[in-house]
Amino acid sequence: MPLFRDMLHADESLLKNEQVLDFDYQPKLVKYRESQQFAIADCMKPLFNKRDGDNVLVYGTSGIGKTLACKHILQELEQETDAIIPIYVNCWEHNTTYKIALNICEQLQYPFTPNKKGVELFQKIAERLNKKSAVFVFDEIDKAEDFDFLYFISEKIFRNSIVLITNFKSKLFSMDKRLRSRLFLEFVEFNKYTFEETRGILQERVDYAFFKDVWTKEAFDLAVQKTFEMGDIRCGLLILRKAGKLAENESSRSIEVNHVEKILDKVDKYAVKGSSDLDGETRNILHLIRDNSGSTIFDVFKMYQKKKGKLVYRSFYRKVKHLELNKYVRIKKIYGGKKGNTSIVEYLGL
Ligand SMILES: Nc1ncnc2c1ncn2[C@@H]1O[C@H](COP(=O)(O)OP(=O)(O)OP(=O)(O)O)[C@@H](O)[C@H]1O
Ligand SMILES: [Mg+2]
Repeated sequence: MPLFRDMLHADESLLKNEQVLDFDYQPKLVKYRESQQFAIADCMKPLFNKRDGDNVLVYGTSGIGKTLACKHILQELEQETDAIIPIYVNCWEHNTTYKIALNICEQLQYPFTPNKKGVELFQKIAERLNKKSAVFVFDEIDKAEDFDFLYFISEKIFRNSIVLITNFKSKLFSMDKRLRSRLFLEFVEFNKYTFEETRGILQERVDYAFFKDVWTKEAFDLAVQKTFEMGDIRCGLLILRKAGKLAENESSRSIEVNHVEKILDKVDKYAVKGSSDLDGETRNILHLIRDNSGSTIFDVFKMYQKKKGKLVYRSFYRKVKHLELNKYVRIKKIYGGKKGNTSIVEYLGL
């Protein structure tokens, strides 16, 4: 009886290139975002003629290609010319003028940063950048605690374009009026992908990440439908990966509807990165764990508090447990260490 014919052997896999499903993976082309990319690139065009560029606010909900499209523009810029320096800063990770200055120095490979104040660092940055032109992308700009760096750039760096990215257009309007009128922002909206666009994006990932024909049509249709309903491509990437892994674990040679159904409750927007504050909080905690992988949960909590995280320890801990449940992080108990029993948290990647 061919009892095991359709079963995978231990060394077989359905996934040929799992990396393609990483959130940070940069596809060669950013489909369906051409018009937004042209609008943003337009703001940078004057820089090619050694004139000052325009500034732009990019806004839209989570997981719809804002970061991807802007990073893609920076890459193209870098390939096109040496005369314009691309700088990308994530303002959740670098949320004050000082930290942003340090990060930009790092990108410019300016090593003499110790004991220098933010203003001094920005003077050094200006000295370097004013020999050329610069494009700045400040992602998650609503997470920045002050905007002094924007004043500084618009005053001291002669030829630049600033791109601000946010989920919350309205929050930016609480930015002080003087700064807003100085930046004179253009607006570029990213809308949600249509059903067909969602399908196109996921199909491309399936083609690169999985061996041919392992997804049944019904299972893929369900993955597309659910991603479209959630309105967030990150959820789609997780569905593809988790369903694929589940099918592999069951030694199945194809990914069926039941695999997708089984993992759907583990792929709520809350676990990934959503538009509400709650969702954002979970993701922020995940970023902290990623950057401090191997620390104790309590130490990560202290860092979270330093970054003005508002949750009390118990709620924070619940979110870490949730991340563990969804296999973003691993919690290891260490018994009888120097500080007695502790729990260490490690980042597992996305
Ligand atoms: N057009 C596209 N083609 C291929 N992949 C895409 C496309 N749009 C989004 N993605 C993928 O979806 C995920 C989310 O995109 P991105 O990080 O750009 O979202 P975002 O709009 O910046 O969301 P957030 O506001 O939460 O930061 C990424 O992994 C990205 O590669
Ligand atoms: Mg983003």
